[in-house]
Amino acid sequence: MEHLITAIKEEVENYQVASADQLEAYRLAFISKKGKVSELFETLKTLPKEDKQRFGKPLNELKQLAEGKFAEWQEKLQSSASNATLDIDFTLPSVPEKLGNQHPLTLTRNRIIEIFERLGFSVADGPEIEDDWHNFSALNFPENHPAREMQDTFFVEKKGQNGAEQDLLLRTHTSNVQVRLMKDQKPPIRAIMPGRVYRNEAISARAHCFFHQVEGLYVDKNVGFADLKQTLYHFAKEMYGQDTKIRFRPSFFPFTEPSAEIDISCLICKGKGCNVCKYSGWVEIAGSGMVHPNVLKNCGIDPEEFTGFAFGMGIERITMLRYQVNDLRLYSENDLRFLRQFSTVV
Ligand code: DAH
Repeated sequence: MEHLITAIKEEVENYQVASADQLEAYRLAFISKKGKVSELFETLKTLPKEDKQRFGKPLNELKQLAEGKFAEWQEKLQSSASNATLDIDFTLPSVPEKLGNQHPLTLTRNRIIEIFERLGFSVADGPEIEDDWHNFSALNFPENHPAREMQDTFFVEKKGQNGAEQDLLLRTHTSNVQVRLMKDQKPPIRAIMPGRVYRNEAISARAHCFFHQVEGLYVDKNVGFADLKQTLYHFAKEMYGQDTKIRFRPSFFPFTEPSAEIDISCLICKGKGCNVCKYSGWVEIAGSGMVHPNVLKNCGIDPEEFTGFAFGMGIERITMLRYQVNDLRLYSENDLRFLRQFSTVV
């Protein structure tokens, strides 16, 4: 017994604890119910009376020593843990979170969607690689219409090549989605269709080989030109401010009759004349018109029963006016000095 007490005492005295885990290991090894010290007390119970008297005192001292060490370490560990918490300096500047921001074209597209959604328009999508029928023929472009050439199309596949039944191309406008909607749905149809379009143009500050449009379409019974006008008046005022002036100019598109181009008073010079509006005081923002009866027929809609209006506008143009961007190329160069300027715009 004496040896055991001395041995365990030595063990306790030499024991080192540096972490909560080690402290727990110490507790289990020595002072828990199954620990070495408790075990000695169990042994003590079995000894004759005189031995009990002899070893009782040193054993109790060992117990106190073991428990005292435990309490000491426990306190040390607790105070070092709370010191660690105090080490945090809340006044230091935080590590900046580098979140990206929306592209200016996305900002404009989302604003356009917001305005038309409140008028009950849904948002639809269509393919960028399109066949001739959806991009041209269904939209009433005659076989040899100069617009087909005018649009300077990128062809993916030509009719007859590799067994292709018709030309496959990069869509030149978002009007192809109109056709797809009218073929797939029954009127009433009220949708806008944002997306990317492609034309074989030399890249410059004012032209690019790809850009973005938002198409609009409303087909129902009794849709008239007044509905088109009121819808676009409302849009222009929401988009550019209540004092924006709007004018409709007669125009031509194969897929609308009558057709009109829509101008707004120049936002830069407020109509006085500047280089943005080429000193006319007006800038064009959209093409529009009443859906041509042939287009309705091509899509399986009876023009005697239904009428509709359509419009198409360029997102780049609108964004240029909104944020005074003077070079189309900036939109696709991925220059962070340009893009980061929109980080505070919502
Ligand atoms: N697709 C025409 C273009 O790219 C824009 C356009 C004009 C769309 C009149 C329309 C419309 O829906 O009615 O120039």
